[in-house]
Amino acid sequence: MVQHNKEDQIPQEPALSRAAFGDSFSWGVSTAAYQVEGAHEAEGKGASIWDIFSGLKGKVKQNHNGNLACDFFNRYPDDLQLMQSLSIPNFRFSLSWARLLPDGYGRVNSAGLAYYDRLIDHCLELGINPWVTLYHWDLPHALEKKGGWTNRDIVGWFQEYVALCAKHYGDRVKHWMVLNEPMVFTGAGYFLGVHAPGRRGFGSFIPAVHHASMCQAEGGRTLRSMLPDAEIGTTFSCSHVEPLRPQEKDIKAAKRVDALLNRLFIEPSLGLGYPLDDLKFMRRIEKYIKPEDEQDLQFDFDFIGIQNYTREVVKYSFWTPFMQANLVPPRKRKVPQTLMKWEVYPEGIYHILHKYSQYKGIKKIIITENGAAFPDQLADGQVHDPERVTFLQQYLQQVLRAKQEGANVHGYFVWSFVDNFEWAEGYDPRFGLVHVDFETLQRTVKSSGYWYRDFLEG
Ligand code: NOJ
Repeated sequence: MVQHNKEDQIPQEPALSRAAFGDSFSWGVSTAAYQVEGAHEAEGKGASIWDIFSGLKGKVKQNHNGNLACDFFNRYPDDLQLMQSLSIPNFRFSLSWARLLPDGYGRVNSAGLAYYDRLIDHCLELGINPWVTLYHWDLPHALEKKGGWTNRDIVGWFQEYVALCAKHYGDRVKHWMVLNEPMVFTGAGYFLGVHAPGRRGFGSFIPAVHHASMCQAEGGRTLRSMLPDAEIGTTFSCSHVEPLRPQEKDIKAAKRVDALLNRLFIEPSLGLGYPLDDLKFMRRIEKYIKPEDEQDLQFDFDFIGIQNYTREVVKYSFWTPFMQANLVPPRKRKVPQTLMKWEVYPEGIYHILHKYSQYKGIKKIIITENGAAFPDQLADGQVHDPERVTFLQQYLQQVLRAKQEGANVHGYFVWSFVDNFEWAEGYDPRFGLVHVDFETLQRTVKSSGYWYRDFLEG
């Protein structure tokens, strides 16, 4: 019998290298229009709900807004150059609906169309593949005045916007994502009121959920009919959910939270309907569903984008309305957290990848966002962010582990390329691989940016 040393029995982590993920794995970085572009009134752009919301006192920390942001609108040539110098092959960014259609529909802003032409062409000239998100939270304000996501007419407005983008950019853009994190923009924007447009309660949230689900599928169909060869996806926020204690009540509470955070938008697209058995308080959504909708909610996406940062630990509470579930914050559990107060939990991405790989209808998964905010400091022209390097390495290690066990994952994008406007949190939480001085707008590659370059160069 062969004698083994003790060490032989410790499961070895797979070695982390780009090659270990295979040649066809897509690597990239992500941004979103409102968070980086600035130029909020330039060249005929209409106002978006974030322009309006961030202009209201007290809605965003320190009353920050995205009027200038990273000035990516003007600085994209230098930023793309920098991206190329870091050997980043894929760039996910979003289009601003109000830059293209200032009133939401009808009148097209040709200067807006020309801007994204320049941006896309520049990516291609540098050998960077553009991955375009159609809706990353900046609804034209003109549409919000008509009810925004609560008005069923949004399905038609959105369809017109998607068709315009497909017609204009489809010859060059091969990867599309319809919506960014619908659970967050409906939950934070139409239920909690902490994101634009700042509406609260079920009366807004429930129709917004149904109409966003309808747009998710309709957007996919519009792209497919116009661009049959394009890769069409959509993205979801998702977090591994666990009960605090192994007790029936916590387990059931965790199941409800999981249904809300991880299943509400994917399942109707797969033909499974809304997970109402686990979300009884959502049952009034049925009053918004027309008989033909059940079919129309479905679309067979080429890929599903998952965006993972943390995990949620759930405790049953009699006093919490609707869900009878409390999320126990990392501080109370005495576990490491980022500046966003999100737990650092690398195994979470492993569990999420396995969970989504089990859905039969998902053709492939791309991690369209992962990253972390830490208190970075610029000193002597450098930013040392070892915590972010470790975070990315640990999460990637778990992605590789899941992939080697058969999870259906085919790409990974870091959130974000540059520090940017973190919505209601303003500019303080820095997620970038590249530091931005928001006074001078100067860019400085962080250690994590150099680490990613070295990783990508192998
Ligand atoms: C999700 C969103 O898509 C993005 O806009 C945001 O900045 C990051 N996560 C970090 O919160």
